[in-house]
Amino acid sequence: MKLEEGPQQGKVGVRSRTSTFIRSLVRPGEMFRETEIYGSMVRRPPTSLPGRATTPNVNFFFHVYPVRIPRKVLSLRSTGRLGFISAVLFVILLVSGTYLMFFYRPQTPDAYFDMHTIHTSVVFGQFTRNLHRWSAQLMIVVVVAHMIRVYVSGAYKAPRQFNWVLGMGLLLLTLGLSFTGYLLPWDQLALWAVTVGTNIAGFAPVVGEKFRQALLGGTDVTNVALLRFYVLHVYVLPAMALMMLGVHLWRVRKDGFAVGDREEFAPAEASDE
Ligand code: HEM
Repeated sequence: MKLEEGPQQGKVGVRSRTSTFIRSLVRPGEMFRETEIYGSMVRRPPTSLPGRATTPNVNFFFHVYPVRIPRKVLSLRSTGRLGFISAVLFVILLVSGTYLMFFYRPQTPDAYFDMHTIHTSVVFGQFTRNLHRWSAQLMIVVVVAHMIRVYVSGAYKAPRQFNWVLGMGLLLLTLGLSFTGYLLPWDQLALWAVTVGTNIAGFAPVVGEKFRQALLGGTDVTNVALLRFYVLHVYVLPAMALMMLGVHLWRVRKDGFAVGDREEFAPAEASDE
């Protein structure tokens, strides 16, 4: 038996070389978290209870978490985790979309053939494309459900009005991302769906036709439109969504969850006696 050097020394006590070896095999993550390398990347607060409460202040990865929250907020019923699921889907879309960008050229007729190449010759190409499409459609459903949850629970009321407005922006960006992505496969469905969609936009009073032509870069859906939709889809709209999402989450952190307000101001439950 030998004393083990390390941050846990004195607390955990004596460990044999064999148990350290087994631990490194069974729980490699735990071993890594005890190393100096991990400690230098992720600032570890003291292990005492008050020390652990400072985690959100010292750890970048946990800084969006509040130090204390009412227990009720943690229940699935309070938010349905719908905002969280929307954020996870957004990350999946960013990662899968970046992979697809390596194999796609936004010009005619290559765009159409690149989609076929992605399906037939690219490693995990078909899987990544399907993941991207399904996640995009699911995200619209989940974001709308999140908005309905916020409305029904009255979480849009003061002091969260600004976050509701930001949420509206996020909803429009989510729809915009879906619409611009629809043209990229450059097949018949894409062409005519975007023709119909932009024609509808053209009927908006005063600015409608000007907006349609600015979006398409002409009067019809051509090569120019494909490039514009591509730039909007891979750069402009995701960048705007990322910035807006950052502020949205920051506001959730500052305002606290709406369900927590009710708990804080609710009258104390009558006791049985
Ligand atoms: C990309 C889309 C969106 C993402 C990723 C997102 C993300 C989130 C997250 C993670 C939360 C924390 C609570 C939870 O998980 O439900 C939240 C709360 C909130 N969201 Fe969103 N959201 C989005 C769209 C929207 C929309 C469309 C609205 C409304 C128009 C909205 C309004 C709000 C409000 C008011 C809160 C605070 C709710 C509370 O305190 O209970 N969000 N959002």
